[in-house]
Amino acid sequence: MTDVRAAILADLPAVQDVDRSLDQRVSEKSVIKHAIEGGRVAVALDGDELSGYLRWEWFWDRVPLCVFVRVRPSHQRTGLGRALYAHVEADLARRGCDFWLSSTEETNDRSLRFHRALGFRLVGALSDLGQDSREIFMRKDLAQ
Ligand SMILES: CC(C)(COP(=O)(O)OP(=O)(O)OC[C@H]1O[C@@H](n2cnc3c(N)ncnc32)[C@H](O)[C@@H]1OP(=O)(O)O)[C@@H](O)C(=O)NCCC(=O)NCCS
Repeated sequence: MTDVRAAILADLPAVQDVDRSLDQRVSEKSVIKHAIEGGRVAVALDGDELSGYLRWEWFWDRVPLCVFVRVRPSHQRTGLGRALYAHVEADLARRGCDFWLSSTEETNDRSLRFHRALGFRLVGALSDLGQDSREIFMRKDLAQ
């Protein structure tokens, strides 16, 4: 059964393991720790296994921005990404946020489809970020 909750410090190694499962650069321990302590990491569990996580940060000190949403390949397309967003969006609405942002590489078709399915709309793109493709930014209004 899937459970989504705020991350605790004990989740840190498993969060890094999700990065490894996707062959992504592993986030620095100190950065994850800071985010967990600030209540900005949610984790999805399948039984005892931490199968995905979402980390967000403040943009301009007042606009939440999803930094990473990552689900282990073995657990993709089973609703974990959607459940992580729902959990964080409820938290952000409680904090009084009207909307939030997320971003993804222009070539990440799966992620673009995912964000579209969850109600995000494109608000712009940045180039010259040291990656092969543009970074697409998306916005979603939050129900109060
Ligand atoms: C993008 C990602 C987070 C999606 O998470 P997920 O748990 O697999 O997604 P969900 O199962 O919650 O899917 C929710 C909806 O998104 C859409 N979606 C998700 N994966 C899709 C795919 N491969 N193709 C088309 N649509 C997709 C569907 O509409 C889906 O709803 P449905 O299954 O009822 O049709 C996951 O694929 C992932 O971790 N990818 C690698 C990391 C990444 O690219 N992160 C995003 C940039 S930071």
